[in-house]
Amino acid sequence: MDLINDTLEIAKGIYWVGVVDWNLRDFHGYATPRGGTYNAYLIVDDKVTLIDTVKGDFAPEMIKRIRKVVNPSKIDHIICNHVEMDHSSGLPAIMELAKDAKIFCTKRGKVGLEEHYEANGCSAWDFEIVDTGYELDIGSRTLMFLETPMLHWPDSMQTYLKEDRILFSNDAFGQHLATSVRFEDEVECGALEDAAIYYANILLPFGSKVLKYADKIAELGLEFDMIAPSHGVIWRKEPMRVVEAYIKWAKGEAVPKVLVIYDTMWGSTEIMAKEIVEGVSECGVEARMFHLRKNDWSMMLRELLSSPVIAVGSPTMHGTMFFTISGFLTYLKGLRPKGKSAVAFGSFGWGGGAVKHVEEMMASAGLEVIEPGLQAKYRPYEDDLKACRELGVRLAQLALDKAE
Ligand code: FEO
Repeated sequence: MDLINDTLEIAKGIYWVGVVDWNLRDFHGYATPRGGTYNAYLIVDDKVTLIDTVKGDFAPEMIKRIRKVVNPSKIDHIICNHVEMDHSSGLPAIMELAKDAKIFCTKRGKVGLEEHYEANGCSAWDFEIVDTGYELDIGSRTLMFLETPMLHWPDSMQTYLKEDRILFSNDAFGQHLATSVRFEDEVECGALEDAAIYYANILLPFGSKVLKYADKIAELGLEFDMIAPSHGVIWRKEPMRVVEAYIKWAKGEAVPKVLVIYDTMWGSTEIMAKEIVEGVSECGVEARMFHLRKNDWSMMLRELLSSPVIAVGSPTMHGTMFFTISGFLTYLKGLRPKGKSAVAFGSFGWGGGAVKHVEEMMASAGLEVIEPGLQAKYRPYEDDLKACRELGVRLAQLALDKAE
């Protein structure tokens, strides 16, 4: 591939003009320890076409990259695959320079853009509404649009470049990964694990939509030489790997693994958590244990993606669960995990209350509470520890059964 200064030509006449956010560590509350990118792509043909923009703060950097290829005033078309501001808030800056550009988006995308950018003169922008199958001739190439509602917003769509067989997939198949290379096969360990973290924290609620999407691309007979998302690196080597991974995650395919998540005040709930892990380990099954205040929630969600069984431990504080547990379970409720079995445990001093509240919140988050939770008064003694180990054994067996 040719480098034109710091703008990468990913295929003949098609340029990455995005930005790398090296210091991104928090993406609307979701931990991003490896940074991120906002990808935009420029196609130079009879009609110069920009696909997506970047987060507004980075618009000058995107424009600088575009200038290395063409004068931004020459942009004829801007494709807005998605309204969320990490992809659209650079749009006002580019519209200042490309005043005659026409914006292509879904019907809901137009409404969303108008509601975001009214103060930026959006009412004067020229829109064209597109839907699935709509084709746009840009000269020697054809763009076809594919609506993907709720992957992951109602307005979402993707753009397929027919002649080059490149899918500009926007958020789907993305990863939060900052790197100077643009292709997944250039990353030391690949990017499937980053894609799994992304899926678990962004797309988990939309598994049924992912499966319908997979059927749709099969029905349309779309084949990909590249899948170019709007975050992270481009899938070039066997790009269907990431589509197949999405199908696996959407189906809830699990491995025999038990997730133990807890918080603790004076160590009693932690002792219980460790005994549960001991019981799981006795059965030769993998357990992963996470203290909620010492680990990123986004990484725990990635573990939950492939764990069929979860145990959640909380001490009782002020008559209810510890506050980090309720925050985590609220996050989980929004992500609506399916097919997960769960049990609660925790210590208390006098009145108790945490385990009951954890069970209620787990049920409202869509987890199947499989048995009454374990409670230990003040400190877990021999009988409590035995009960925790035995619980670990039952959870391990369940994980094995569910992963078959
Ligand atoms: Fe990357 Fe839904 O925004």
